[in-house]
Amino acid sequence: MKKMLVVHASPRGERSHSRRLAESFLDAWQAANPDAQITRREVGRAFIPHVTEAFVAANFYPEPQSLPKVMKADLQLSDELVGELIAHELLVISMPLYNFGVPSGLKAWIDQIVRLGLTFDITQDSHGVAQYQALLKGKRALIITSRGGNGFGPGGENEGTNHADPHLRTALGYIGIDDIRVIAAEGEESDKSVFLRACEEAERQLRDLAGHF
Ligand SMILES: Cc1cc2nc3c(=O)[nH]c(=O)nc-3n(C[C@H](O)[C@H](O)[C@H](O)COP(=O)(O)O)c2cc1C
Repeated sequence: MKKMLVVHASPRGERSHSRRLAESFLDAWQAANPDAQITRREVGRAFIPHVTEAFVAANFYPEPQSLPKVMKADLQLSDELVGELIAHELLVISMPLYNFGVPSGLKAWIDQIVRLGLTFDITQDSHGVAQYQALLKGKRALIITSRGGNGFGPGGENEGTNHADPHLRTALGYIGIDDIRVIAAEGEESDKSVFLRACEEAERQLRDLAGHF
């Protein structure tokens, strides 16, 4: 049975375009995969904690097998989020572009799921130089995003200032999720008709993808 984890990152509910596009993709995908399971994880309208000193101390504890019980509590939510990610082979992230990057709730989620020993590992080569290894395998991701401006995609005039989906490609790739597709609707701040056309085009691409994702 296919299992899909959907991470919604817009703080907006019904007004959110990225959320609406993602939900319409999910309707089409569920129709094509009636037995599949969808799990939703809210990071835009629910609080995901920032990294704290206690989290760092527990995450990088020198002997993880003997991590004191009291410190285990500092990793509890992270353990849950990592377990959830591991349990689903498909990942959908819906997000707005915020100040040229990802919304802070999504960044907080990334910081919780990039976990030493669980989603990536560090060893040293014979010269003592750190070697990094991704621990997740066989997953695919789809990023559905909405942007106020235009030209943030590949080859666009603002591509160099888009640090949102490129950041996700790097961070997810680091833990082994490197099969990533991005579908964007741009121009919410343009004339209504411009953005409407962009949303229709994004929905068309998402409908096409729903049959083979
Ligand atoms: C705090 C904030 C920051 C934003 N920063 C950008 C930005 O850097 N570039 C851009 O094109 N649009 C920016 N926007 C516009 C959003 O990307 C746009 O409204 C998007 O459609 C919102 O997605 P949503 O409808 O899913 O919430 C910003 C909006 C907000 C509220």
